[in-house]
Amino acid sequence: MSRPRPVERAERRPGAPIGIFDSGVGGLSVWRELVAQLPGESTVYVADRAHVPYGNRTSAEIRRFCEAIADFLVAEGCKAIVVACNTASAVALHGLRERFPGVPILGLEPAVKPAVSLTRSGVVGVMATPATFQGRLYRATVGRHAADVQVVEQVCIGLADLVERGELQGPDCEALLQGFVGPMLAAGADTIVLGCTHYPFVIEAIRRLVGPSLAVVDPAPAVARHLGQVPRHRFFTSAEPACFDRAAGRLLGLHTSSEGLLWRDSERQALVRVAQHSRPAAGAF
Ligand code: DGL
Repeated sequence: MSRPRPVERAERRPGAPIGIFDSGVGGLSVWRELVAQLPGESTVYVADRAHVPYGNRTSAEIRRFCEAIADFLVAEGCKAIVVACNTASAVALHGLRERFPGVPILGLEPAVKPAVSLTRSGVVGVMATPATFQGRLYRATVGRHAADVQVVEQVCIGLADLVERGELQGPDCEALLQGFVGPMLAAGADTIVLGCTHYPFVIEAIRRLVGPSLAVVDPAPAVARHLGQVPRHRFFTSAEPACFDRAAGRLLGLHTSSEGLLWRDSERQALVRVAQHSRPAAGAF
């Protein structure tokens, strides 16, 4: 994989835009929250409609598309990137952070954690694409947060296409949605997670089908809030970042998320950034 060129120049230029991308129009559900919560920010949005839907594609394909889009956004001078697509995040987030260690990259994962805190029946339904369910990110989230609840996974083939075509209501839309929500309701779900950024555009149709007593969770507002926490002050340390964060907390009462540096070569004394693999998908700058 060739190394990208413009990262160091582009990052965090004052007034630089935030890059945001999706396989299509789905990421606009995240974009509208972002601009509502951060009205001072400018954005560059990429909709890869030539390749939508991503959900049925191979990981290698999705990764290739995401890398090319991220290269484009960085070359456009973006100071941060939002992968406004659960599918792309599941497959490519880790690699993108390695490719651009100096650019904050925020991804999406199905909002299982908030759903677990909302459910009273102990059954949570998750609507997403096949690639999202197959990803390690999703498995890890379920393992971490949903050990004590039943998670009903509903693959929603065709739903992103429907949204791409702008068919947000009507008999075809309702028939498709009925087929998806039926099994979750039958299993006793009282909380449904929209695990694809296209689905919030049919949230009203879903609510009509499931009734007012079910909670339908759209993660976009939380993602935008996290993005607003991109710090203006950055801290680097050439030892363990968690130790620095604890020390800064003790000394200044500050919550820092310091980034690691390595002395690459004792003779040349070059400092290089350590890629931050362990950051969770959403909200972890
Ligand atoms: N919007 C994408 C997501 O959040 C999926 C749509 C697709 O399959 O391309 O997963």
